Amino acid sequence: MNIATHPFDSLMDITSRPRAVFVRGQGSLLWDDSGRRYLDFIQGWAVNCLGHSPPVVVEALAEQAKLLLTPSPAFYNAPSLNLAKALVDHSCFDQVFFTNSGAEANEGAIKLARKFGALHRNGAHEIITFGGGFHGRTLATMSASGKKAFEPLFEPKVSGFPKARLNDLASVARLIGDKTVGVMLEPIQGEAGVWPATDAFLHDLRSLTREHGLLLIFDEIQTGVGRTGKLFHYEHADIAPDIMTLGKGIGGGVPLAALLATEAAACFEHGDQGGTFNGNPLMCAAGLAVLREISRPEFLKSVVDTGAFLASELQRISARHGLGEVRGRGLLLALDLKRPIAASIMAQAFERGLLLDAPQPDALRFMPALNVTRAEIAEMIEGLDAILMKTGAARCVA
Ligand SMILES: Cc1ncc(COP(=O)(O)O)c(C=O)c1O
Repeated sequence: MNIATHPFDSLMDITSRPRAVFVRGQGSLLWDDSGRRYLDFIQGWAVNCLGHSPPVVVEALAEQAKLLLTPSPAFYNAPSLNLAKALVDHSCFDQVFFTNSGAEANEGAIKLARKFGALHRNGAHEIITFGGGFHGRTLATMSASGKKAFEPLFEPKVSGFPKARLNDLASVARLIGDKTVGVMLEPIQGEAGVWPATDAFLHDLRSLTREHGLLLIFDEIQTGVGRTGKLFHYEHADIAPDIMTLGKGIGGGVPLAALLATEAAACFEHGDQGGTFNGNPLMCAAGLAVLREISRPEFLKSVVDTGAFLASELQRISARHGLGEVRGRGLLLALDLKRPIAASIMAQAFERGLLLDAPQPDALRFMPALNVTRAEIAEMIEGLDAILMKTGAARCVA
């Protein structure tokens, strides 16, 4: 189809997008409708953990689609029961509620914490969250987020989310009061530019929350499902949160997310939570296929090895071009550019058929498929190197 014939104006204009229309994907590659090939290091924002259209997910969806799309959330279905059991078996949690997006999972986590506060903590309802955090785009999750750009939007916000500073335990301790019911954080702040909480901070935060009888809520929507080289990021710090949310990677490309809780925290009563598509068998069948693949120890080991290779290649590029640090863990990494050139690099990369993400003006984020190959990493590095050479040359001329 000629690009001019696409009805672009019929979609709400919610962000600026290049005028390419993607029609096909396979592994780390995408093609637009003019047949142009792109190497994808965004993967739907860390969604396609097995790459585009992975055969195991395609087959699981096709098989399930032939059997049953949805019986109604008023009835049980086998894929949701089996996926919940698999998640429980692989984690420190006892129960699961499935949702359709990460924001909805976090909204569920907030409701669960407030319910816990109503039942066990004298109506306490405040959840301490963190400056720079990102938890989604519903009203409550925007309020829980510490994203500057959200501050003036859609007032009045949902109240009850005082903000602490990541890796600063005293800033959390200062906010704890009678109304506090929990603390919620991303173990690596993705949207903010890939800023990790240290393992020591997470460890101390677990001790502090236990000491005060508070819930510790991990938003692992970006870090979960193998992204950092463990199935769930909390394992790195050797702690057990009370509540965790998953999204993105868990569906391997389809809209699936989950709210997990320990038995003590899972206090919803009938009528508190639900939703038409929640736990539908089609998405859960995809989730099961993904989890089977990613939970294999050899697979997780390969994420660690590939992540170390990508990090060392980025460090090499950084040294060559006088850039900053490489942050993150596993295959969620950022390159600090030290200057606000990320958007320009992203645009030049797109022109070369390379998809890179710029979450902040001075940082590039890398979240390829977890099975990305070294050859694909080498191709991306070569493209990035060429762009940086040009950018550097342009700077010298200017
Ligand atoms: C850490 C984190 N939490 C929540 C969300 C929201 O997920 P969704 O866009 O699926 O609603 C995101 C999305 O980027 C995220 O990175």
